[in-house]
Amino acid sequence: MLPGQPSQTLLRSAIRRAQHQMLDRPLILYDPIAVDLVPEASEPDILAEFGSSDELLPAMLRALFAMRSRFAEDRLGQAAARGVRQYVMIGAGLDTFPWRQPDFARDMRIFAADHPASLIWTHRRLRERNVERPPNLTHAPIDLEEQRLAEQLAACGFDLEVPAFCTLLGVSQYLSGDALDSLLRFAASLKPESELVLSFAPPDDELAGLDLDDTIRAVARTTELGEPWKSRLRARELTDQLVQLGFGDVFHLSPELAQARYFAGRHDQLRAPRFEQLIAATMK
Ligand SMILES: C[S@@+](CC[C@H](N)C(=O)[O-])C[C@H]1O[C@@H](n2cnc3c(N)ncnc32)[C@H](O)[C@@H]1O
Repeated sequence: MLPGQPSQTLLRSAIRRAQHQMLDRPLILYDPIAVDLVPEASEPDILAEFGSSDELLPAMLRALFAMRSRFAEDRLGQAAARGVRQYVMIGAGLDTFPWRQPDFARDMRIFAADHPASLIWTHRRLRERNVERPPNLTHAPIDLEEQRLAEQLAACGFDLEVPAFCTLLGVSQYLSGDALDSLLRFAASLKPESELVLSFAPPDDELAGLDLDDTIRAVARTTELGEPWKSRLRARELTDQLVQLGFGDVFHLSPELAQARYFAGRHDQLRAPRFEQLIAATMK
């Protein structure tokens, strides 16, 4: 990220989720407040950008952003059922979960952990839209390259002695190897029943066709924005690393599984992407 500047990429993710609400049926992620959450995600802007919902590449991006939140929230519901009462959204961006939280989350403490410049910016934008902060949401400013998540969260009231559910959605590619390792070690230090859901970008040699095209474009675009990709991960190696760190249950939502679970029977262009994939790792 550029020094002192909020992330630009967080806005693109929010716009894609808003586009999904307007352009796709059936919905993979129901996010009724995504549209109009920020002016850039208004109905006229969305319609102006995409005259048609049949374009392949935008459709895949909408599929990705909807799917990764849906998968994380499905897993969060299961974690809540086994008693987890803390949720940390690492690199939260404009994720709207706190404003549309289902009943199971109401007695959870939710932490939106993000770069200080991004947090200030998102907070200001939501205030401009009169979106009040829910009482169970705490902002936790952190630069993941410079600071330790455990310390920053503890300073915001996070309880290291009870389990937590953590997400890292669309963030790992922007982190250095050291920052990512430190974050994985933090997640592995959490109490049993804790869980980490993270998305990751596989290297080019695992991609082809539109998946590769999209990655090449994304790398160029985000580099231009001052947010270059720093980490590309292979599912097998990441799984091995998580197992070595002590996670007892590591689940890779492969593109094939994701397709069957979230996209079966669709007649549009939305399909499970290969260019960003998901892993859920649970402490036993
Ligand atoms: C592409 S956005 C994803 C936002 C959100 N998770 C979503 O799915 O919409 C990347 C997020 O990572 C955060 N981020 C990037 N580098 C960071 C760092 N060094 N420390 C803290 N947050 C960082 C940005 O502020 C931004 O919110």
